[in-house]
Amino acid sequence: MSQQQPTIQRVAIIGAGVIGASWAAYFLARGMHVSASDPAPDAEAELRRLVQSFWPALQQQGLAPGASLENLRFASSIADAVADADFIQENGPERLDIKHDIVAQIEAATRDHVIIASSSSGLLMSDMQQGAKHPERIVLGHPFNPPHLIPLVEVVAGKQTSAETVARTMAFYTAIGKKPIHIRAEVKGHVANRLQAALWKEACYLVDQGVVSVADLDVAISHGPGLRWALLGPFLNLHFSGGVGGIGHTLEHLGPPIEDWWADLGHVPLNEATRKKIEQGVKEELSSYDDADLKAKRDQLLITLLEAKKAVGKLP
Ligand SMILES: NC(=O)c1ccc[n+]([C@@H]2O[C@H](COP(=O)([O-])OP(=O)(O)OC[C@H]3O[C@@H](n4cnc5c(N)ncnc54)[C@H](O)[C@@H]3O)[C@@H](O)[C@H]2O)c1
Repeated sequence: MSQQQPTIQRVAIIGAGVIGASWAAYFLARGMHVSASDPAPDAEAELRRLVQSFWPALQQQGLAPGASLENLRFASSIADAVADADFIQENGPERLDIKHDIVAQIEAATRDHVIIASSSSGLLMSDMQQGAKHPERIVLGHPFNPPHLIPLVEVVAGKQTSAETVARTMAFYTAIGKKPIHIRAEVKGHVANRLQAALWKEACYLVDQGVVSVADLDVAISHGPGLRWALLGPFLNLHFSGGVGGIGHTLEHLGPPIEDWWADLGHVPLNEATRKKIEQGVKEELSSYDDADLKAKRDQLLITLLEAKKAVGKLP
């Protein structure tokens, strides 16, 4: 593991569904060769269709020299996909027994130093790497959907993952334009999904209690704090809310009321009645919009925002 590692030029995608196809498109756009494996009967056609559909957005953001859809190869098996890969991104079904089987097949055919990064949203890396031949090179590289657009990747080590693997994975994702963060402990849902879950919990509670409609709650985020959160995170926004005193002043000044609100936050079970209320609210919110048109506008705005962020230079 510690000898000089070659530059990563060939990436294997194992499991080419929603996430695997999006990763494949991203790696291709960064000028790499991609070999993909997926046992579904129509997997190759579906992968090529998805990658093709993601390509215009990637072109709009700028392709790396040599980037081409022709660098995508559909492999006949996991062994075939990983044989000459320099990095492996695993995106199979979210089941521990299947992940174990996939890891065993990968390890039987790949070189010992090649990193195996798993996209898993919910499994613990320590569980996933159990029984592996070289668990030290297996790590979690959790993307945010869709990985061909959203820069965040959460990198999490399992108990047996080496510090070198974490460092190499972070360096690789950074070099290809992703924004990786190193999560220092294994927790359910990693970090970004936990933050979303915390917000959704209170959102469902407020709607259930009749405090606000679904539509107005969405406005409260998308025309309010969500705008700033897309630019700087919650801590830096709090820092800038503190004037010359910065975060210290904000915490001192707003800390006590915020603690009071924390104590008042609610909990609501996602039972049938709550789900119906939310579904009805979303239906009403969308009544004067066309779903497909709204989604297309959202995706285009996201690309525009990503370009604008890139144009202003380095951001935290
Ligand atoms: N969908 C999301 O929003 C999201 C976001 C981040 C991470 N993830 C994670 O990514 C992984 C894949 O999720 P998805 O949403 O793409 O699921 P998906 O069902 O779209 O894709 C899974 C693919 O794995 C294939 N597959 C089945 N058995 C396999 C095997 N033995 N070897 C290789 N491939 C096999 C299936 O044919 C399918 O194409 C999961 O671990 C999930 O937790 C999902």
